[in-house]
Amino acid sequence: MIPGAAGQIRVFHDLEALSRAAADLFFTLSHMAIAARKKFTVALSGGSTPARLYSLLGSDEYCEKITWQGVHVFWTDERAVPKEHPESNYRLADTSLLSKVPLPAGNIHRIRGEEEPRSAAQRYEEEIRQFFGGTQVPVFDLVILGAGEDGHTASLFPGSAPLNERVRLAAPVLMDRPKIDRVTLTLPVLNHAAHILFLVSGRKKGDILRELLEGEHRDTYPAGLVQPVNGSLEWLVDKDAAALLRNAG
Ligand code: 6PG
Repeated sequence: MIPGAAGQIRVFHDLEALSRAAADLFFTLSHMAIAARKKFTVALSGGSTPARLYSLLGSDEYCEKITWQGVHVFWTDERAVPKEHPESNYRLADTSLLSKVPLPAGNIHRIRGEEEPRSAAQRYEEEIRQFFGGTQVPVFDLVILGAGEDGHTASLFPGSAPLNERVRLAAPVLMDRPKIDRVTLTLPVLNHAAHILFLVSGRKKGDILRELLEGEHRDTYPAGLVQPVNGSLEWLVDKDAAALLRNAG
């Protein structure tokens, strides 16, 4: 493990090894949180990288050892599409994970992609506030993030308005057509999480990973603005993504 300003970095042989480490971490953190507070709150991302993690968590091996009754699932972001749509982040998690484990329906806190993004963001924020209670920024036990080649994370894109949000927990992301609108958690929520986990895989992520982990201008990228307030930040990356790092060993 390599410590640094950008967080802890662990480099794995391939996506399979990376996904297993992430599944082990999910198990450990959920076990500790449920033992201490009877609840484990996690925010899931979309994209292709976490798909293997989700199917591992839904497999017998992990399904049986996780106390699903205590797990509460949220999302970091969602596209403005119905929940059956191939681009739906809810659908990705549902197909490989949620439908495979004994998770009570009331523990699934999805973003309503089928609604107009402004009202979906408002409704999601209300659900989060109601669940966590109080007026403070909620502290998720685990937030799982990916990074795009342009440095975006969740649905926080370079130069976009939601990056400046300091009060709202969730924000609509209105995209230029033909791109699909989205809803995203905002930086204050991501940064207050107890554990922030980035998953990055593949050679095409080499340049941006180097910028984010070793560059001098990491905070010009949304993913580089993810800096824990009190929690920890960990990057699980594979060898291909780490190929351009100077300090990856
Ligand atoms: C999404 C995301 C997004 C994703 C990155 C990386 O809904 O698409 O939450 O931020 O994590 O685009 O995606 P890949 O895993 O496909 O590289």
